[in-house]
Amino acid sequence: MAASPFARDVVAGLSARPKRLSPKYFYDAIGSELFERITDQVEYYPTRTEAAILTDHASDFATLIPAGAALVEFGSGSSAKTRIVLRAAKDLGAYVPVDISGEFLDAEAVRLRADFPQLTVLPVVADFVETFGLPPEVAGKPLVGFFPGSTIGNFEPHEACTFLRNAGDILGAGAKLIVGVDLEKDSAILNAAYNDKAGVTADFNLNLLARINRELGGNFDLACFDHHAFYNRERHRIEMHLASIKRQKVKVCGETFDFRVGETIHTESSYKYSIDSFVALARGSGWTSRAVWTDAEQKFSVHVLARDGA
Ligand code: AVJ
Repeated sequence: MAASPFARDVVAGLSARPKRLSPKYFYDAIGSELFERITDQVEYYPTRTEAAILTDHASDFATLIPAGAALVEFGSGSSAKTRIVLRAAKDLGAYVPVDISGEFLDAEAVRLRADFPQLTVLPVVADFVETFGLPPEVAGKPLVGFFPGSTIGNFEPHEACTFLRNAGDILGAGAKLIVGVDLEKDSAILNAAYNDKAGVTADFNLNLLARINRELGGNFDLACFDHHAFYNRERHRIEMHLASIKRQKVKVCGETFDFRVGETIHTESSYKYSIDSFVALARGSGWTSRAVWTDAEQKFSVHVLARDGA
């Protein structure tokens, strides 16, 4: 039986030095629910701050998103943030959510069509990191990309550049792109955001091991791994790890992996940018900054980019 991509990535990641797992695997049904709970924690400021920025700038969407435009969202369209934009953008020609999970997309499309009866919803099942085709119905419509949530922070900076170039190729000349980007700030605020007192982020991180147990027949003992999250100032990123509290062996997919005391699995990086460093990254990726919106405390930013050659 051919191994699934998840199985192959887990075996490769646990065989690597240092050990690592991709954060894209956090989001099974339980992980997605835990992420929703993270966004309700007082310490986790990004989601609510970004939503407030979008709400404050609702009137700008009317000019930014021309009548008849198609809004192309990279990643899941489940969030309250999408609805803020859909309410603010008048006479939208189409909404095109792009996600790897077709099941999820279809369920969300049903809800959106009920809440926005005038809206044409055209889901595309694709991995937005790869190149994909837009539905033929959007041909000739002005295109606006939407990539909220600071999901771009999960990419290494060179991968973020590749993503932005790819998005530019897909959206084409004249396109705009609205990107949510978390900002560098006092380490205490960042460290608190990824170490909430209620322990929801720890549960979210550990769920990755539980998922491996459930889906790949692993035998991780969750009590023998600790959640570690800290701001790495030199690399401008939060790092999340799972640290082995003892010397131990774990079996996954019939293979045995050894852990030293304190050895970690690096499960996520969440890069933080200054406004200038993100504008520079966008410039180097074929986009020009049109506007940057932030909250009063400069915790989070929403960038409006225009594709070069527009
Ligand atoms: C969904 C990538 C924006 O990096 O803040 C939250 C995921 N990880 N707490 C982030 C996450 C731990 C989140 N992003």
